[in-house]
Order: sequence, then structure tokens, then C-alpha cells
Amino acid sequence: MLLAGTARAQAPYVPSEGNLQSRKEFSEHRLGIFLHWGIYSAYAQGEWYLSISKLDPETYSEAAAGFYPARFDAEAWARAFKEAGAGYVTMTSRHHDGFSMFKTAQTPFNIVDATPFGRDVLGELTKAVKGQGMRMHYYYSLIDWIRPDYPKGNSGVAKDPAKADYNAYFEFEKRQIRELMEQYHPQALWFDGQWDQGGRPFDWRMRELYDFIHGIDPDCMIGNNHHSAAVGGEDFQLFEKDLPGENKAGFSGGATVSDTLPLEACETMNNNWGYHVADLNYKSVRELVHLLVRGASKGSNLLLNIGPQANGALPAPALDRLRGLGAWMRTYASTVDGCGISPVPPQSWGVSTKRPGTVFLHILEPAAVPVSGDKGILVIPFQGKPTAVKSFPEGAPLKWKVDKDGFLCITIPTPDPSAIDTVIEIAEASL
Ligand code: GLC
Repeated sequence: MLLAGTARAQAPYVPSEGNLQSRKEFSEHRLGIFLHWGIYSAYAQGEWYLSISKLDPETYSEAAAGFYPARFDAEAWARAFKEAGAGYVTMTSRHHDGFSMFKTAQTPFNIVDATPFGRDVLGELTKAVKGQGMRMHYYYSLIDWIRPDYPKGNSGVAKDPAKADYNAYFEFEKRQIRELMEQYHPQALWFDGQWDQGGRPFDWRMRELYDFIHGIDPDCMIGNNHHSAAVGGEDFQLFEKDLPGENKAGFSGGATVSDTLPLEACETMNNNWGYHVADLNYKSVRELVHLLVRGASKGSNLLLNIGPQANGALPAPALDRLRGLGAWMRTYASTVDGCGISPVPPQSWGVSTKRPGTVFLHILEPAAVPVSGDKGILVIPFQGKPTAVKSFPEGAPLKWKVDKDGFLCITIPTPDPSAIDTVIEIAEASL
């Protein structure tokens, strides 16, 4: 009775065959590139600049009139992502400041109509990314710091509460999402901002939005960065700055990790999502590879962020990291892409990934490998029946035995302390 009229019982969500196929494809590539690009990039202070600076929206929006990314080259971006070993790209179609980076008839506050550049950058990038055989996903903010109809939440700048009208805002979002889907056919939509109304009763009508999206394209995957367990209508589970189940950043404490949906963890290369001129605190290639490998060992993709500059260039340190990742991926992609959780639990020296018939051990911390003379000895619980153990990619056979307690003992050359990841391949008999 209490629920009548507000939350009607929902029919269970049944994903389409094409959606299930898309989920599979999605997990076949463990690396995705996240792009936070908008007029905030011109302030070079991260994507929260409007909220942090407390500028009035009119002053903030002046950045649009000067936004001219002369160096933007969608093909060059797409090539750089592809060469890094990425399988997909997720770009901000519209962030919390409400500026649309695509051609839209729903608001003049967009890249085509409000900037001298006048080009549909999302459209151009989508074409280039798909042309490289990668998937294209769109980030879409559920909150809007400028539109009067979005009721001000915990973030953003002062607004007139009398003008708040979530139902009208919801219809605006639906019209924009329809445009995004009909104009560019993204393979996934990535929502963010649901935390903005935390602490007060608020019905986001998300299931209605999900059904609307799947009504347009049932194969389009939906993810939502709401920091909790996935709900009906969602096709993959997101983790912000955390590998699934770790909750190191404190965002995903309540989130049960789904054992049926694909997983994706997003992370910054430095400390900001949007371009920040002073933030040169970039993670090393080694750290990034380790994130990717540790994620893959938990069955998760890594959505690695870059904040492009206002002039359309990718920051030099980000390009450098992309090249480093690419060098690693050219040799080792097959030890993460399409691989899932292995029955070998994490060890002090590293983690393990698995594809049918093959388990890969990834030695990430060579100093933690027990050493005997000039050899390293790995002793691991192993449930399958090993048939061969080799170094990867060289394929050199390694000495191994299963001891009386059932542990697999592998003798390896003492691992090179500077190696990013020493990989060992175990072939196992199908049982
Ligand atoms: C957080 C930030 C947002 C960013 C997102 C990426 O939600 O508020 O700015 O886009 O994380 O995961």
C-alpha cells in the first residue's frame, strides 16, 4: 500500500542475447581509456572547478566562448589508445557542469553551438575509435550544477530551489540520451552522480531510465558509479578508484561484488580526472601495469583516465604512460585480455589470471619470491592438473613438481628485480 504510486514492483530485467554478447566482448579487453574533457579543461584545475571555485555559472560558462582545441585530432587519439592495448574508450559526453561535448538540440550549452570550435568532438572521436575496432562508451552525469531544473544536491553552486523540477530534468536527460544513442550508437552508457542527493529522500527513477535505454537499444550496456551493488537493469558493475572488493578509496564499502556481471574499476593516471595543470603526480608504467594485472586477476577491467588539455592535446606524461603500457601489452596482452579469476589465490609476490586450459602467474614483487641459491621457488596451491610449466613469452620449460601436500612447486631463475611482471604459464589438463 505504502509503495503504491511510487515504486511499483519491477519486472525482473532480462538482458538481450546481444547484451550478453556485448558483456562478453567487453571482458575480452581488460584495458579501457577514460576521458574527462570539457570546458573545465580550460581552467586546468580538474573537472570540479565550478563547484570548487564557486564562480557564478555565467562567469564559468565564458570558458565555452574561448574553447578552441586546435590540436584535437580524433584519429591520433584513437591510434594512441589502440597502440596502448586498449579495447574501448569511455568519454564524458556531459559532466557535472552540464556542458555537452556533442551535438545536441536540447541545450545551446554544447560544443557545437557554444564554442568557436563548432565541431562535434564526441562524434569525431566515436568514428575514429570504432574505426580502430574499439568500443565506444559514454559517461553521462546525472547531476547538473547549472540547469535550474536539476535540484541542487550536495555539490555544486547555489541555485533557486523554487525552479527545481526533477521531472522536467529527467525528460531533458532522456531526450539527450536518445540523441546520443541514435546519433552515435554507443556500446555502453556510464552514469555518475547518484551520490549527489545522499542524505535526503530522492527518487532518481533510474530503473525507468534503464528501461528507456534498453527500449532504444537492448544491447547497450549500462553501468552506474553509485558506489553500491549493481541493481536490476545494469549490465556491468563499476568501482571508483578501487579494485573490486578492496575499498581502499572508501567509495565502495557497501558494494557486494557481482559474480555474474562484468566488472570495471576506474582510476586516474595522476590524481585528477579532468586536466589539472599542477598535478604531475603520475603513476609509473609499472604501477599502471600492476593495476591492470591485479584487476584482471579479480575478473575486472581497468578504465584508465586521461584528462586532455583545452588545446586538444593529450598531456605528455599521459602519452608517455600510454606508450609504456603499449610496450607491455604487445607482449603480455594475452595474459590479461579475456582472462578471468584463477583458482590460485593472491600470493605475496603477485597474482594469477586464467583462461581455459592455462593459468598465468604474474610475479609483480620479485623481492618477495623465496630464493634458494640462484633459484626462486614458488609454492602454490593448485587445484587443476598441471601438464607443463613454462616461462612466458619465451616458452622455456621450468622444473616443477606437485609435493605430497598437493602444492605445485616451480623452480625459476631468480626474478629480475627490475622486471615489471615476470609471467609463468601453466598448462593444465582439462578435467
Ligand atoms: C567522481 C567525480 C567525478 C568523476 C568520477 C569518475 O564521481 O565526482 O568528477 O567524473 O568520479 O569516476
